Amino acid sequence: MSVDLRISPDQIIERYLSMELVRVTERAAVSAARLRGHGNEKAADQAAVDAMRRELNRLPIDGEIVIGEGERDEAPMLFIGEKVGNKQGPKVHIAVDPLEGTTLCAKDMPGSIAVMAMAGAGSLLYAPDVYMDKIAIGPGYPQGVIDLDASPADNINALAKAKGVKPHEISTLIMDRPRHAKLIEEVRKTGCSIRLITDGDVAGVIFCTQPEKTGIDLYLGIGGAPEGVLAAAALRCVGGQMQGRLILDTEEKRVRAAGMGVKDPNKKYDMSEMASGDVIVCATGVTDGGLLSGVKFGKDVIETETIVYRSVTGTVRRIYGEHREFSKFQLD
Ligand code: FBP
Repeated sequence: MSVDLRISPDQIIERYLSMELVRVTERAAVSAARLRGHGNEKAADQAAVDAMRRELNRLPIDGEIVIGEGERDEAPMLFIGEKVGNKQGPKVHIAVDPLEGTTLCAKDMPGSIAVMAMAGAGSLLYAPDVYMDKIAIGPGYPQGVIDLDASPADNINALAKAKGVKPHEISTLIMDRPRHAKLIEEVRKTGCSIRLITDGDVAGVIFCTQPEKTGIDLYLGIGGAPEGVLAAAALRCVGGQMQGRLILDTEEKRVRAAGMGVKDPNKKYDMSEMASGDVIVCATGVTDGGLLSGVKFGKDVIETETIVYRSVTGTVRRIYGEHREFSKFQLD
């Protein structure tokens, strides 16, 4: 497949590539789901990576991975800087997490997904594989109502006021990690509830976009930086607010980040500094979860559920797939 290069890159991304991205995450999800509950995180991740890479290389794009499975030496595939696509299309930058929540998949627990984002070159933050301190809320609040540098109590009080509820009626989501002991203690003092998750904070952030459905108003805490960029890309499409700061707590990390263009190691990134321009985000469920249903294997049909977000229009599409050509889902 080649594309008509006379139309603008934005139109190419929308018209030609939205559905192609669905295929990419669907295939990664199905490959990972075959190893769901097998207790082997590495194998499930590798299956998702292989499938995603194979599909990306079929796309009519001149693509570069900017958020990937790690940096070149430690990741055999889909590493940061890897070129993907058949070069017959626009220059795009791509963030991938072929299997977000590897442990969730290996244990067949809720919430693992295959996820990626695509945008024009230079639109996604080139983030090293380190931690990121994050805060996020959904749409409908005045700009600046939350701030990464404010205390949890101040953020919760400000958000409660903006929402028109009492602070103890705000619901937060935090990763269940020892590093969050102090944060959890401070949030508990405000009286509001905390949903603790074991993994999968891309979906955790996205939950804030639909508090009436998910029961989550506010994401707080430290997770992966790559996941932060993917979540920021999704949030930009539906209009929430997010800030993140890379945790560059060793000289080695600071040097690595500087090599990727991070000038200020303490910079607080806004959502649109992490993902700008026309961004498409696409995620397919691997295991059943609050965001998406997982892959279902039937006798003649494989079922998938995918969500696609686009920033320019704010369109959100949910795509239920029934796949009958099983050969497409086998390893080449
Ligand atoms: P993986 O899929 O790479 O295992 O990441 C899962 C995850 O839970 C992310 O959602 C989260 O951002 C990150 O790990 C947190 O890292 P850690 O497990 O080191 O606290």
